[in-house]
Amino acid sequence: MGKEAQVLNVGIDLGTSRSAISASNGEKFVVESFVGWPVDMVAKKVLKRAVLIGHEALSNRSMLDLHRPLERGLLKEGSEKDVEAVRELLRHLLTLVGAKTDGSGTTRAVVGVPAASLRTNKQYLRNALKGIVDNLMIVSEPFAVAYGLEALLHSMVVDIGAGTTDFVVMRGRYPTEEDQRTLTTAGDFVDDQLMKLIQARYPEAVFTVFMVREWKEKFSFVGNPKSPVIVQAPVRGVPTDLDITFEMRSACESLVAPSIETMIDLISRVEPEFQEKVRSNVILSGGGGLIPGFAAALQKGLDQIGGGKVKALEDPVFIGSDGGLLLAQDAPDSDWEKLTA
Ligand SMILES: Nc1ncnc2c1ncn2[C@@H]1O[C@H](COP(=O)(O)OP(=O)(O)OP(=O)(O)O)[C@@H](O)[C@H]1O
Ligand SMILES: [Mg+2]
Repeated sequence: MGKEAQVLNVGIDLGTSRSAISASNGEKFVVESFVGWPVDMVAKKVLKRAVLIGHEALSNRSMLDLHRPLERGLLKEGSEKDVEAVRELLRHLLTLVGAKTDGSGTTRAVVGVPAASLRTNKQYLRNALKGIVDNLMIVSEPFAVAYGLEALLHSMVVDIGAGTTDFVVMRGRYPTEEDQRTLTTAGDFVDDQLMKLIQARYPEAVFTVFMVREWKEKFSFVGNPKSPVIVQAPVRGVPTDLDITFEMRSACESLVAPSIETMIDLISRVEPEFQEKVRSNVILSGGGGLIPGFAAALQKGLDQIGGGKVKALEDPVFIGSDGGLLLAQDAPDSDWEKLTA
């Protein structure tokens, strides 16, 4: 086998809530971005594992010291465990697609991160991947999405994730800092708002942020409700129906105004003759883009500046990692940095 054949290219979308990987051998996986270590001897005995990742970590969280490596678009660098969590998560993703993480193969990885993280966490990410991959390219998430869709010229990607909403304007070249924006009003912010609103209306009901997130993912909407949103939570131990229609709407709509404002600000900086093209080529991606009515609300916002078109991606899970993989396959050697262990 030639040297070329042994190179594995991967695109990784390192997300606050989910991380996805697409590899040149055709393998793809998505895992929830949670890493947990058994809290004590009993937990170790029950779990029989040194570390749990993704859904497994979430569903066993009562026995774990649970870490979510990203928050508000930044990799947490506070504790050693947070640093270790990123490394474990990346290693896990690479192992899932069959990459050799012991230095015996050659792996080239394009990693998409929130734009804010691109500015502050690059070195940290390099360290986390040392000895695991050979060549690295770190790009912003919305750029990876744009690349994957080949929306490279006069387009805008709005990626609503859990930790951040990221924007990029594509000008037919690698985007610069000025072409991108990050807001921390995103999915986690909605969860937080929804939690507070429901607590205020039903002070005796007990529920967790995990339940609130599930309710949101099932019943989210902006604009006029199609039907009432009814969920169940215990009130003094009794499972009780709660109508949260109004709360759901307000929490989801809290993302609309900041997104429109940022979209308009970015578009107003585009060369005047291309603004209309960009306005009519806005792509909404990320889990938050699945909120029914959201694309229409953004599109309505564009009426203030002459109108436009916003298209939501129906299945955004692998768009970022697929885009990263495509970049990995297209990029010349000079665009890569070499990681030496
Ligand atoms: N149907 C839905 N309606 C509303 N929100 C949803 C829906 N499905 C997923 N989400 C939310 O989308 C967010 C996750 O989106 P995504 O996977 O794009 O984020 P991420 O890439 O992990 O985060 P980030 O890009 O901020 O790092 C979560 O807040 C999740 O609750
Ligand atoms: Mg994301």
